[in-house]
Parts: sequence; structure tokens; C-alpha cells
Amino acid sequence: MEVRRFRRNKLVGVVIAFGFAWISCQHDPQREPFLHEDYIQSAYFSGGTTTVFDASPSAFTKPLNNLSPENLQRFLQGEAIFNGDFNNVVNSPFYGLGPQFIESSCVNCHVGNGRGALSSISHQGLLLRISMQGTDGFGAPLEVPFFGTQLQTNSINNSPAEGALDVLWEYQPVVFPDGYSVVLKQPYFSISNPYHPLPEFYLRGGRHAAPIFGLGLLEAVPIATLESIADEPDQNEDGISGKLNYVMDFQVNELRPGLFGWKSSSPGILQQTADAFHQDMGITSPIFPLENCNNQSNCQGVQEGIDIEGDLLSDVVFYLRTLAPPARRNLEDPLVQLGGQLFEELKCDKCHIPELQTGIHPIAELSFQTIRPYTDMLLHELGPGLGDGRPDYLAGANEWRTPPLWGIGLTKTVFPNAGFLHDGRAETVEEAILWHEGEAIFSKQSYLELSSSQREALLRFLESL
Ligand code: HEC
Ligand code: HEC
Repeated sequence: MEVRRFRRNKLVGVVIAFGFAWISCQHDPQREPFLHEDYIQSAYFSGGTTTVFDASPSAFTKPLNNLSPENLQRFLQGEAIFNGDFNNVVNSPFYGLGPQFIESSCVNCHVGNGRGALSSISHQGLLLRISMQGTDGFGAPLEVPFFGTQLQTNSINNSPAEGALDVLWEYQPVVFPDGYSVVLKQPYFSISNPYHPLPEFYLRGGRHAAPIFGLGLLEAVPIATLESIADEPDQNEDGISGKLNYVMDFQVNELRPGLFGWKSSSPGILQQTADAFHQDMGITSPIFPLENCNNQSNCQGVQEGIDIEGDLLSDVVFYLRTLAPPARRNLEDPLVQLGGQLFEELKCDKCHIPELQTGIHPIAELSFQTIRPYTDMLLHELGPGLGDGRPDYLAGANEWRTPPLWGIGLTKTVFPNAGFLHDGRAETVEEAILWHEGEAIFSKQSYLELSSSQREALLRFLESL
């Protein structure tokens, strides 16, 4: 009897131990992250303690949740300039527009601080980068004579604009194995009515205004972290490389890692902002003190002096650095959880890396935050369908920086006409996925093979970001 009981207890013990192992396996945050309660709690906070809980149309316009009252004042000063409508009326607080420009305010392109319109329905937030074949000694694209590196489609003082941006669309149906189909639209850009003859051959690429919240946190991620993720020779042989761009920093006249722009062509928020004022609005600043006129006969009405002084420029930069990312939503939804698993299985997370840590930053609120931006901030080759034939420093014709996916589910809440991808060609995130090729070919192929309910789950997950 004694022996038998011992044996039975032993068996029960084994069953219990196995059961514990099974349960703990279910709750192991490493193995089943999308079901783990602590994971769910922390995953709501896309920007650590800076996160704002706002899913309204103004979700992208909020200051960091932990911003101090003094810093909030500066945020508001910068916001007023970002939203200001610039003009060429002397003594106006927003004086300085033109002579050549595209839009009169930042927010007209970055609608609701998000992106521009679907480019097949409107050109809001869309611009054309142009250049000649070849590079300067630092790898920068070469100017098109009499035009520069960006087409300005507007001007002041009745002088002619550089030209108009035209787009032709080619339709490409994609049929899934289960019969479901989607039509992709490929844009071809050209310039009509140029004020001066254009060279026979020049490179061109459409660029679409990108969301501008959370950029301070991304800038606060140590470059060493990005270098450690980069795998240009693909040493781990997962088919995915990822590299940093190195671009001219005009503050110090040295090449620095590129962080912003769809091809990582800008080293930081300051230069990106000064460049936007200069190229998109014709507003000079201490970083770009000369009007954007390349020996242009149409540059009339050029005023002496700098249009936006350094302190006001840095207020706008401060505003951009302290715009918060929005919290996630619906993490308890089982479809969202399944979608999260598929996001890993399809290797989306190899480029759209869920989690990064910020380092120390002069704006204390940005320091040492665990953020969930879904990007590696690196360039990847995504195939000729997305390529624009226009390299930018080390970014090849078909290479793009992985865009952050945080907040992407709120895109249409903020701006119902918004488009996705670098030139705003994609109407839905599903279209955006179907454009992935090159290093992301596995992800795209696997997406095509999903069942309709799995597709729904993945899209529901993206909707929750
Ligand atoms: C004509 C439309 C337009 C205007 C006006 C405009 N932008 Fe942009 N913005 C863009 C486009 C297009 C991009 C992407 C550029 C690229 O990929 O190189 C962009 C990118 C950015 C980025 C980088 C986002 C990222 O994640 O890479 C920032 C920051 C930015 N703009 C700030 C501003 C500020 C500040 C202003 C006003 C001074 C402004 N923009 C005015 C169209 C515009
Ligand atoms: C090899 C790296 C890589 C992989 C893998 C990858 N992506 Fe991307 N993703 C990118 C890059 C780079 C872009 C920008 C392409 C462009 O704009 O031309 C992008 C763009 C996107 C966009 C549009 C973002 C925007 O701001 O417009 C979405 C949505 C997206 N990816 C989702 C996914 C999903 C879902 C998967 C997995 C099925 C995936 N990606 C796999 C690199 C990758």
C-alpha cells in the first residue's frame, strides 16, 4: 500500500509539475508576450511616461505627458509658429514667405501634425525632390541648374513659380490566393510649365509629409543603439540588413548619422526644421541664411536679412521635440493579440522594431524612456516598385528608412484623406504592406498567404498602434 501510494503521489507530482511548467510557459513574457498582463499594461505606453491618452482628431498635437510647466510655455510658443500662416506683408509676425515656396505653413502639409493627403486625390503635403545624376564630394545629390533640389510650385510678387507637379498613375491589381484582390497605384512624377527649360534627364522622387510627433524621443535614442541594430553585411543571414545614412550636418559641416526624412537625409530635428522653412516655405534662418534661389530669374521680391531668427527657430524645434506619441488602444482584443503574433511571424518586427530605449537628453522629460515606436531608424532596400531612382547620400534609389508605426492606427481619425508610404501613394495600410519587396519580400509573401481572418487580425493590430 505504502509503495503504491508513493508511486501515485509521484505521478501526481509529475502531472502537477508538468502543469506548472505549461502554465508558466503560457505566462512567460518572453514566449507569449501578447497575452501577458504586465506586457499589456506597459504596451499601452508607446512613449513611456511621455505618452498621452488621446485618440481624438487632435491626438498628434499634445505635449509630452510629463512636460514641466516652464517647458509647456516654450512648447506653446513653438506651436504658434508651426501653425502660423506665413506671408510677405512687412511687419506681419509671420513675415518672410517666398519668393519661391510650396506652402505657407508647416501644418498645411503636416495635417493635424500627421501626414499629407493620399497623393492620387490631392497634392496636400506632397513635394518633388529633383537632382542631376551624381553627387558632390560628400555624397549629396546635385542641384538641377536653375531649380535646385526641390520643386517650388508657388511664388510671391507675381513672379512665375518654378513649375507644376504632375503625376501619372499606373494601376496594378494584386490577387490573393483566396481570390481577394487589391489595386495598387504607382505614381510617375513630372514637371509641367517649368519657368526655365529643364535638362533632358534629371532624377526625381515624390515625398509626402510624415507625422511629426514623438520625434524628440527618436532623436534621444543613442546612435550606438542604432549602430548595434544595423547589419549592413547581413551577418545574421536573416535577409534583412539595415544601415545608417551619413549626411551633412550644416551646423558643424560634418557628416552625421541621418535620422529624419524618408531616406534619413537629415541629421536631426533642427536641420530638418530649418530646411523645411527654407525649401518648403522660402523662409531663411541662421542655418540657411540665403534665399532658395539658384541663379533664378523668377526670384523677385528677395528681402535682405534673415526671416526667422534663431530663438524662434529653436522654439519650433522645441515644440517638435516635445510632441507626445499617443497611447495604444484595444490591447485586450484577442484579434489584436493574434495580429501581434502574426506581426512577429511575418518578420515585420525585424525592421519595425517594437521597443527602444532613449538615453540621456538635455530635455530631461525625454531621457531614459522605454518607447515603442516600431522602427529601427535604419535604411532598407524595399525593391524597385517603391524605388525612385534618386539616391540621397548613402541611401540607394530603392532604400527607405523604416518609418515608425506608432500612432498609425489614428492616421485617418486625424486626417481622413491621409495617404501612406513615402509619396502618399497607399490609401490603406494593407496597400502599404503589399508594396514591400526587397528585404521585406518574406513579409509580403507571407501576408499574401494569410487567411482573411488572419489578415483582419494583423490589420486590427496595426489599427491598435
Ligand atoms: C510642402 C509641404 C511641407 C511643408 C510646408 C512642411 N513640410 Fe515637413 N515634411 C514634408 C515632407 C514631404 C517631408 C518628408 C521629407 C523627406 O522625406 O525628406 C517632411 C518631413 C518633416 C519632418 C521629418 C519627419 C520624419 O519623421 O522624418 C519634420 C520634423 C518636418 N517635416 C517638420 C516641418 C516643419 C517644422 C515645417 C514648417 C517649418 C514643415 N515641416 C513644413 C512636407 C512639408
Ligand atoms: C526589411 C524591413 C521591413 C520589413 C520586414 C517590413 N517593413 Fe514595413 N516598411 C519598411 C520601410 C523601409 C517602409 C517605408 C517604405 C516607403 O515609404 O517607401 C515601410 C513602410 C510600412 C508601412 C507604411 C508606413 C507609413 O508611415 O506610411 C506600414 C504600414 C508597414 N511598413 C507595415 C509593415 C508590416 C505589417 C510588415 C510585415 C508584414 C512590414 N511592414 C515589414 C520596412 C520594413
